[in-house]
Amino acid sequence: MSSLKSYSANDLFNYISKKEDLLVLDVRNEEDFGRFNVEGPFSIKMANVPYFDFMEEEDISVAKVSREKPIKVVCAKEGSAQYVGEILVSHGFEDVAFLEGGIKTWGNLLMPKRINLESDDYALYQFIRPGKASCNYGLIYQGEMVIFDPSRNYDFYRSFADRHQVKIVRTFETHLQADYISGSKQIANQTGAEIMAHIGDFSNASFQYNEVHDGESFEMGGNGPVVKVMHSPGHTPGSTSYIIDDKYFISGDTIFIQSVGRPDLGGKAKEWAAMLYDTLTNKVQNLDKNLDVLPGHFMNWTEANNQLVFSEKLENIVGHNSSIYALDSLGKFTEFIMNNMRESPAVYDEIRKVNNGWLDVDMDEAEVMDLGKNECAATAYAKVKKEESS
Ligand SMILES: [Fe+2]
Repeated sequence: MSSLKSYSANDLFNYISKKEDLLVLDVRNEEDFGRFNVEGPFSIKMANVPYFDFMEEEDISVAKVSREKPIKVVCAKEGSAQYVGEILVSHGFEDVAFLEGGIKTWGNLLMPKRINLESDDYALYQFIRPGKASCNYGLIYQGEMVIFDPSRNYDFYRSFADRHQVKIVRTFETHLQADYISGSKQIANQTGAEIMAHIGDFSNASFQYNEVHDGESFEMGGNGPVVKVMHSPGHTPGSTSYIIDDKYFISGDTIFIQSVGRPDLGGKAKEWAAMLYDTLTNKVQNLDKNLDVLPGHFMNWTEANNQLVFSEKLENIVGHNSSIYALDSLGKFTEFIMNNMRESPAVYDEIRKVNNGWLDVDMDEAEVMDLGKNECAATAYAKVKKEESS
C-alpha cells in the first residue's frame, strides 16, 4: 500500500504553474471554502468535501473523490488534511498528499520573480502573493535590500535576504494597507531597518517611521538605483508611488493593470475620488508612458505575462482602461466610483489599526485577519468576471 505524502504551498504553486493534472481536495467546511480557496495562474480541478463528512460517512465521502488524479488535500491547519489523506490511502488511493501547515501557508506564500535584466547592477524582484492577489517588491544593490509593502511573512524576507547575502535596510509603504497586515514593523524590529511612509496616512502611527515627501529621491549605495517618491493620493490620502531607475513604477494601490484603486474604503468616497481624479489626470497621465507599472494588486491571473509576472507598460494600461482614463470631468469620474462602490470588508478597520500600531494581535488572530483576497480595485472583481463571460 502506498503511503501518505506531504507538500508545501510552494510546491502547490509550482504544480499549478506547470499545469500538472491533479485534484485539490479541500476538506474545510463549505463556508470557509467559499470565503477563500486556492487560486493560481491556471485553472485547477477542485473538490470540497468537508472532513467531518469523512468522519460521519466515510464510504460515501470517499466515493465523492476521483481516483483518476493525484490528490492534494488542503485543510485549515494540517491535521484534518492528514486525517482525510490517511483514509484515502486506506481505501487504495495511490497518490495522496496533505498540505503542510494548512491553508494559511498558501495565504502567506510569496513567490519571487526577477523583474529587471540579470545584467543590471541592481536586482528588482516582484514577490507575488497568490493568496491575497497582491504583489510587493524587493530592490537589491551592493549588499542592501529595500522592500516595498512587505507582508507579514518575515521568514520569507529573512531567508531571501540571507540567500542573496544582503541586509534589509528600509521598507517603503505605499499606503496604510486595509486589506493585509504590513510586515514593516516586524522587519524594523528584527533587522533595525527604517520604515519609510507618508504622513498623509501615518500621522497617527504609534511607531517610529521616516516621512517620504513628493519629489524626493533616495539613492541606494554610492551610485545605485534611484527611488523617486511620487505622492499619489486617492486610494488613501497618503498613497505614494515609487519610480525606480526611471524605468519601474511601483504604483501601490493607485493604479492597477486592470482598474484603479478604490477611493471609497475610508468612508469618504467623494473627497478621496476627487484626490484620485487629480492624481490620475495631473500626475499619472504626465508620466513617461514607457514606464513598467508594478502594481500592488491584481484582480486576475490573466493580467500576468508569460513569465507569470505582473508588469505592464503605462501606455498599455491607459489604453486598456480607457473607460476610466477617458472620464474627462470630476463629475463623471465620481459617478463611475459611486456606481462601483460596494461594502468594504469589516475586518479592514481592524487591519488599519494593526498597521497604524494601535492594535496588537497575536499570531493566530493575525492569520485569521490576513487571510483572503483583497478588495482594493475600483472595478468589482465579480463585475469584471461577468463582463468577461458575456
Ligand atoms: Fe490598499
